[in-house]
Amino acid sequence: MTGEAGALLVVEDLSIEFRTREGIVRALERASFTVGQAETVGVVGESGSGKTITAHAVMGVLHPAGRVTGGSVRFRGADLLALGEEERRGYCGREMAIAFQNARAALNPIRPVGRQIEDVLLRHTDLGRSAARDRALELFARVQIPDPPRLHGAYPFELSGGMCQRVMIALAVAGSPALLIADEPATGLDVATQCAVLELIEELAHENRMAMLLISHDLGLVGERADRVVVMHAGHVVEIAPSAELFAAPRHPYTARLLATTPHPDSRLADLRPIPGSVPDLREALPPCRYRYRCERAAPECDEPPLPRVEITPGHFVACRRPL
Ligand SMILES: Nc1ncnc2c1ncn2[C@@H]1O[C@H](COP(=O)(O)OP(=O)(O)OP(=O)(O)O)[C@@H](O)[C@H]1O
Ligand SMILES: [Mg+2]
Repeated sequence: MTGEAGALLVVEDLSIEFRTREGIVRALERASFTVGQAETVGVVGESGSGKTITAHAVMGVLHPAGRVTGGSVRFRGADLLALGEEERRGYCGREMAIAFQNARAALNPIRPVGRQIEDVLLRHTDLGRSAARDRALELFARVQIPDPPRLHGAYPFELSGGMCQRVMIALAVAGSPALLIADEPATGLDVATQCAVLELIEELAHENRMAMLLISHDLGLVGERADRVVVMHAGHVVEIAPSAELFAAPRHPYTARLLATTPHPDSRLADLRPIPGSVPDLREALPPCRYRYRCERAAPECDEPPLPRVEITPGHFVACRRPL
């Protein structure tokens, strides 16, 4: 949707399917977006909209049941989907890294967390064993893990959710990547810990001039921190805009609904209306616009393929025939 020249990451027309016993799930269809150097791009959408699978496809760690059926992922101009496994691995960890959704489950349960950091450092940097250990302790201190020497030997099950999240972030930034993908980095944590973890990620991104893809179902949380926001619904990118513009003037009816469900300090609870209907079953035959049956603005023209992609104002894209 945005073929920006000079972008760090360009995802174009990316499609993903899953083969399941119940049929083929068309989980992502022609998703396009970019991330610029040192830019923070938010990705939002309800559960099941395709945020995580998009991140996994970019990183080359898609679940074996999933398959990229079309499109391209380019990083600094190199087509990642065309690379062999070995070359691809060269990018992951060093050039780009991911802090997985659900950190505790993503960490190796049978290896002390300090060792896990050292493994990344030994793989992606020129450090020797003892320097890697020192650097691991520094990283733990940087992500505000108390008593790094003690925590170095701890296993993930011994740590709180917030601590696991910090270890996950330390792991992701250990190789000093140019792009960090943070998938729901604050979900499941208490509010105070959420804020601390998000602040930490922002600081790290700023310090290292690191670009970031910040994934969350919480539009409020992402909007405050991202330069631009990508809105997803049922495997489609439905809108992309600079954050301030998206909040001030959403153009896709789904984004407007999502905004209305986002708590705001000024809004009363009564103002928070849920989005009608539910995400459609992605195994069924779907109309060109997957929001069609939930949309109050839907009209017969919405059944005409293909799904449009309109640059409504410079840098503001919307996939809708009847935008607001
Ligand atoms: N292993 C799998 N097998 C079959 N379908 C899958 C699998 N993983 C994902 N999907 C499909 O892809 C869709 C998108 O999943 P994804 O995990 O990317 O959603 P998400 O936007 O990250 O949601 P959440 O906010 O809950 O993390 C799911 O609704 C599901 O239909
Ligand atoms: Mg997810």
